[in-house]
Amino acid sequence: MRWIAAVVGFSLILASPRDTEAYPGRNELAEASSRAKRSIDVNDVYEKEEKMSRTRLPEVISPLSYYLELEPFLANPEEFRARVRFNVKWIVQSDRITLRALPTVNVTKYSVRTVVDEKSEKDTPSMEVNVARVDLPSEGKKPWYRFHFEQILPPGTVIEIEMSLSGRFTTDRTIGFFKNEYLDDEGNKHLFVGTNFRLGYSHGVFPSLDEPVYKMPFKLSVLRPKSMTALSNTPLETSKEADGQPDMIWDHFAETREICTYQLALTVSDLESISPTQEVNEMDGSKLEIKVWGRKDFLKHLKDVPDKVVRIINYFQDYFNSSIGLPKLDLMAVPGYNAAKPSDSWGLMLFKESELSSPSVWNTAYELVYQWIGQYITPSHWNTGTSVNKAINSFLASMITVDINPDEMEGKWPMTMLYSLYYEFGKYEPFSRVNGIRNEATSAKEELVFRMFNYTLGKDRFQKGIRHFFHPLSRRLSRQFFMDEIYRRLNDVANESNILPRDLTINSIAARWNNRDRIPILTVNRDYNNRTITFSQKVYQRDAPREIPRFLEWDIPLVMISQEKLEYQPPCRLWLLEGQTEKNLTIPDETSDDQFIIVNPEEIGMFPVNYDSCNWKMLSQFLQGPQRETIPVLTRAKLLHDSWNLAYADELCFRIALNMTLFLKQERSHVVWEPVFMMIDHIGRRIEDFEVYPKFEAYTRTLLKPLYEELNNTVDPNEPSWKTHMRSMAKSFLCRAGYEPCVKEARDQYKKWLIDEDPDKGNPVANEFICPVFKWGTMEEWEFGLQRVINFPQSSPERKQNERTYLLKSLAGCPKDSTKFEKLLNAVILDKDKKTFSDSDIQLILVTLSGRSAGYKALFNFLVNNLDTVQQRFEGKSYLWNRVIESASHSYSTQTSLDLVEKLYESKLVEMKQPASWSSVRMQKALRDGTIEWNKKNLPVIDAWLTENLPKEELEAI
Ligand SMILES: *[C@@H]1O[C@H](CO)[C@@H](O)[C@H](O)[C@H]1NC(C)=O
Ligand SMILES: *[C@@H]1O[C@H](CO)[C@@H](O)[C@H](O)[C@H]1NC(C)=O
Ligand SMILES: *[C@@H]1O[C@H](CO)[C@@H](O)[C@H](O)[C@H]1NC(C)=O
Ligand SMILES: *[C@@H]1O[C@H](CO)[C@@H](O)[C@H](O)[C@H]1NC(C)=O
Repeated sequence: MRWIAAVVGFSLILASPRDTEAYPGRNELAEASSRAKRSIDVNDVYEKEEKMSRTRLPEVISPLSYYLELEPFLANPEEFRARVRFNVKWIVQSDRITLRALPTVNVTKYSVRTVVDEKSEKDTPSMEVNVARVDLPSEGKKPWYRFHFEQILPPGTVIEIEMSLSGRFTTDRTIGFFKNEYLDDEGNKHLFVGTNFRLGYSHGVFPSLDEPVYKMPFKLSVLRPKSMTALSNTPLETSKEADGQPDMIWDHFAETREICTYQLALTVSDLESISPTQEVNEMDGSKLEIKVWGRKDFLKHLKDVPDKVVRIINYFQDYFNSSIGLPKLDLMAVPGYNAAKPSDSWGLMLFKESELSSPSVWNTAYELVYQWIGQYITPSHWNTGTSVNKAINSFLASMITVDINPDEMEGKWPMTMLYSLYYEFGKYEPFSRVNGIRNEATSAKEELVFRMFNYTLGKDRFQKGIRHFFHPLSRRLSRQFFMDEIYRRLNDVANESNILPRDLTINSIAARWNNRDRIPILTVNRDYNNRTITFSQKVYQRDAPREIPRFLEWDIPLVMISQEKLEYQPPCRLWLLEGQTEKNLTIPDETSDDQFIIVNPEEIGMFPVNYDSCNWKMLSQFLQGPQRETIPVLTRAKLLHDSWNLAYADELCFRIALNMTLFLKQERSHVVWEPVFMMIDHIGRRIEDFEVYPKFEAYTRTLLKPLYEELNNTVDPNEPSWKTHMRSMAKSFLCRAGYEPCVKEARDQYKKWLIDEDPDKGNPVANEFICPVFKWGTMEEWEFGLQRVINFPQSSPERKQNERTYLLKSLAGCPKDSTKFEKLLNAVILDKDKKTFSDSDIQLILVTLSGRSAGYKALFNFLVNNLDTVQQRFEGKSYLWNRVIESASHSYSTQTSLDLVEKLYESKLVEMKQPASWSSVRMQKALRDGTIEWNKKNLPVIDAWLTENLPKEELEAI
C-alpha cells in the first residue's frame, strides 16, 4: 500500500523531537518509493535514460523473431551456454548491425545469412553474408556488439544471425540471469536459476535489442535436470530427453507474442506449485491457468494466494472486458529474491516470499495490472510521460481494493494522499524542503485526477474509456504508449454524450491539474435574496508570505448536492472554466434558502471549497443534528478539514471553523477524526505562545477525552489497526494537552526511576511517559532527567547512546515553561569544563528549541543576557554560532521580539564573522509581518469562541 504522500505530510507536521520516534515516516517513505516502481515506470525510464540514451542502438531495423537456447547447468557451475538465432529486417540500407551486449558475453561462433522473405515476389535464394569485422564490447566503452558486413544490404533484406556464446551467472543479486540456492527445513541445499531482465539487464546474458521500441516473438528452449521444472512466459510445447545426457531434458516453450526483451522470463527450480480452488472465468474463448510457486516448506503461507489472484483477474477481466491474453500465469515466491521490485514479466512473475504471501489485495492487484498494461502498451521510446501509467495502475488497484476488500483501505484512500498534497501545494514554495517526494506526489496527483474523471464522467463512461485504452486494436500490433492517449480515449467517451462544455477536453483539464504543484480554492457564494450562486477560484496558499507566485486557473468540476438531495448523479455537466474569473460564474440557486449546499462532495476534485457564512452555519447545525450521517463520511471529513485549513489560511473566520468542530462530540468515524489530530497540532503550534493557548489545550481535552475513554473501554486484540492508531493518537494528544489521568500515569511511572538507588544503570520508564513528565511535571523531575544525561555512563554495554539522545531531545523539546529552557541552556552552553556536552549535543538542542516558539524565545532571551559569554564559548566555531543566531531568530510572532532581533543584528552581531545572513532575516520579515497580522485578527476570535464554548469548570481551572 502506498501511504507515502500521506506519511510525508504527516511526519513533517509532527516532526518535533518528541514525535519523531512515534512517526517514523522517513523509512516508510524510502520503502514506499522503491516499492512503487515497475518495469515501465517513469522513474525507471529516467534512470535508464541517463545510462542508455547515450548508447542507443544506431541502426533502423525491425526485429522479426528471436530464438534462444539456454544451458544453465554445466560442469562449471558459474557459467551457462547459449545459442541464439534471430531474424532482422533492414529498414534503410546499411552494411552493419549493432546489438547490445556486455563484455562478459563471450561469443564463440557466429554466422549471418539472408533469409528468403515468404511474401517476397522475387525468387532470391538464401545466402551467406560475409562479415568483414566485429567490434566487441569492452570495459568502459559502449556495450555494443557490432557486425560490419562486406556488402551493403538494401532495405527490405531479412537476415538471420546465429551465435553461440557463454556467459556468467549473477550470484549476489536476483537480476540478469541469476543462480541461487535455498536450504530446506532439513538443511539440504536446493539449486535454482532464474531471469530478471528488466530494462537493461538482458544484454549481460546474450546480445540483444534491449530497448522498449523493439518487440518481437521469442522462442525459448532450456536444458534442465530431470528433477527440476522449467517455467517461462508461455506454456511448455514439447520436452525431450537430451542426447547422451540421460538425466537432462530439453524443454521447448511455445512462441511468445511480440514482447520486449526485458519481458522474457525463465526459471528452473524444484519449487512446487499450488492451484486455485476457483477458476478464472472464460474470456475471449480461453481460460487462464493460474499457479503459485514456492518452496515446499513455504507453500502453507501461500495457500490463500491462488484464489486471491483469481478474484483479481476475474474482476479486471470484467472491467476491461478483455482477457489478460495469456494461456497461463505463474506467480513465484523466489527464495532470497532481493531485487527492489517484483519481476513482472509477461506470464511469469517473481516476488519476494514475504511479498507474495502478504494478504494485501492492493499489492497483488497493482502487480497484475502490469500484466495487461505491460503486454499491450509500452512507453514510447524514453517518453517521460509514463508516470501516468503508474497513476492509472494505482487507481485501478485502489478501485478493486475498495470493491472487494474495503477493510484493507481502512477508509484512508484517497484522504491521506490528498491531505498531504493539500498541505504541500498550499506552501509558499511546494517541495522546497522535500524535493525527493516530488515524483511520488506527481503520480499521486495524477491518480486523483483519474478519480476525478471517474466521478465526473461517471463510472460506466470512465470504464468505457479505459477499455478503449486497454483493448489492443490487434493482438499482434505492438502499441506504444503516449501520455495523453488515455485522456484522448476518455475524451472520446465524453464527446459521445456531449458531457463537457464546448471547447473543454479531458486532455486540457488533465494537463492543468497534472502539470502544476498548486491547487485552487473554490469560493461559493449564495445570494439568498436574488437566489443565485456565484463560483470563483483562486490559488490556494496556506502559508505566509501570501504573494501568489503566478496567476493560475483550473477547469473545476462543480458537483453539487444539497440538503434535500444528498445523492450525486454523474455525469457532472457544470464546470468553472479556466479564464472565467473576470466574470465569475453565476447560476440560479435552486435550493431553498434554509437548506445547505455542498460542492465537491467526497473530494471528487482536488480542491478545498469555501462558502458564504450562512451556508457554513447551516452545515454546522446539520452536522450536529440527528441526520448527520446522511452526509457521507468522506464529505464530513472534507467539510471539517476544509474549514480549518481555510481558517488557517486566513480565508475563513475562525469562529466558523471552530463551530464546525462541534459535531465531533458525536462523531466516531476514524476517517473524520484522522485530520483532526493534524489540525490540533498545526493550530496549536501557531498559538502556543499566547494567552489563549491554555484554553485551546482545555478544548483539545474536552474534544478528545470522550473519544479516548470510549476507545479505551473497548480494547480488542483483533481490532482493526485504525482503532489502535486512533487510540494512541488520542492518548498522545491528550497527554500533551495535560489530561490529568495521563499525566498522573506518566509521573507514577517516572517515580520508579526517581527512587531508584542506582538510576544511571538503566531507565525503567517507557519513552511515551517522558515527555508528559517533562512538560507537566515539577522542576525536580525535569532536573532529575538532566542529571541522568549529565551522568550517562560513557561505556556501559547495557545503555545505548540513543537513550541519552532521546532524553536530551525531550528535555529541550517537551517543557512549556521558560525556566526549564533557561536551566538547560545554562547547563549546556555555559558548561564550564565543556566536557559533558559535545558540539553535536548543542546542535541538537538548538534545532529542537527552534522548532517551537517557547523554545526560540528562551534561546533569544538567553542570548541577549549572555551575549559575551556565548560569543566566547563559540570562538572559532562559526557553525555553532550561526546556528545559535539562526535558531534564535527563527521566527517571530510578536513585534517586540522582532524589534529586539533587529537591534541585535544592527549592533554587535553583524560585525561577527558571517552570522546568519541579515538578508535572510529580511526575507523572513514579510512572513513575520503576515504572522503578526494573522495573530491580531484571529487570536481574539479564537479566544472569544473558546471562552464561550468551554465548560465552566475548565475555564475556571485555567
Ligand atoms: C570464451 O569461450 C571460449 C570457449 O568456451 C573459451 O576458450 C574462452 O576462454 C572464453 N573467453 C572468456 C573471456 O571467457
Ligand atoms: C467511480 O465513480 C462512481 C460514481 O460514478 C463511484 O460510485 C465510485 O465509487 C467511483 N470509484 C472510485 C474507485 O472512486
Ligand atoms: C440582485 O441583483 C440585482 C441586479 O443584478 C442587483 O442590482 C442587486 O444588487 C442584487 N441584490 C443583491 C442583494 O445583491
Ligand atoms: C468573483 O468572486 C470573488 C470571490 O467571491 C470576488 O472577490 C470577485 O470580486 C468576483 N469578481 C467579479 C468580477 O465579480
